[in-house]
Amino acid sequence: MSHISIAIDGPAAAGKSTIAKRVAKKLGFLYIDTGAMYRAVTLYVLEHGDDIIKDIASHIHITFGINDEVYLNDKDVSKEIRSPEVTNNVSRVAAAGEVRTYLVDMQREISRTSSVVMDGRDIGTTVLPDADLKVFMMASPEVRAERRLLEETARGNNIDLATLTAEIIRRDEIDSTREISPLVQAHDAVLLDTSQLSIEEAEAKIIQLAEDKLEVQ
Ligand code: DC
Repeated sequence: MSHISIAIDGPAAAGKSTIAKRVAKKLGFLYIDTGAMYRAVTLYVLEHGDDIIKDIASHIHITFGINDEVYLNDKDVSKEIRSPEVTNNVSRVAAAGEVRTYLVDMQREISRTSSVVMDGRDIGTTVLPDADLKVFMMASPEVRAERRLLEETARGNNIDLATLTAEIIRRDEIDSTREISPLVQAHDAVLLDTSQLSIEEAEAKIIQLAEDKLEVQ
């Protein structure tokens, strides 16, 4: 059986993971949050030092649980990888060539064995350039900061809107200007601006695109 892949890229807090997860569930595909993989590596690097980056593959084993939990060397780190410390260091660690090569290989391997909805920054351009459907999801920095504020408050993190907006803009800048696979819209990706869309509306748009393009029902 041939496998279908849907690539969802875009800047931080554009709604990618929420929407991608729902789309995957609806289509019965595997959902792969590649940002969570970069975050897991970052957590390990923060604990063990930058020196391990050059030999990352021999240190790290990342797997996902059935409810999208993230396991780092068999330990559930789903919560820890969302800490402000990881968030503030992830763009730096994700810019390292060794980290990208290791995770991109892993992401491609997963898509060889399953139909996937994969979200990240470079899925449509680098990881799965032949993806069956590519969506580039964006929203204004203000809308994205508001959404992150709701998430952080729900997690019990006390952070203000101005700090979050600045952090999102800084992360966009690093992610879009790094040398290896920067965040850019693939030439064949459909642009989806979620600034004015509810979660349900954004999900419905992608399902519609998938039905039109892939003949999935
Ligand atoms: O989606 P997120 O905010 O959890 O991603 C965390 C960071 O990981 C993001 O700032 C950039 C990096 N990332 C990346 O470089 N390539 C990907 N495919 C996914 C995430």
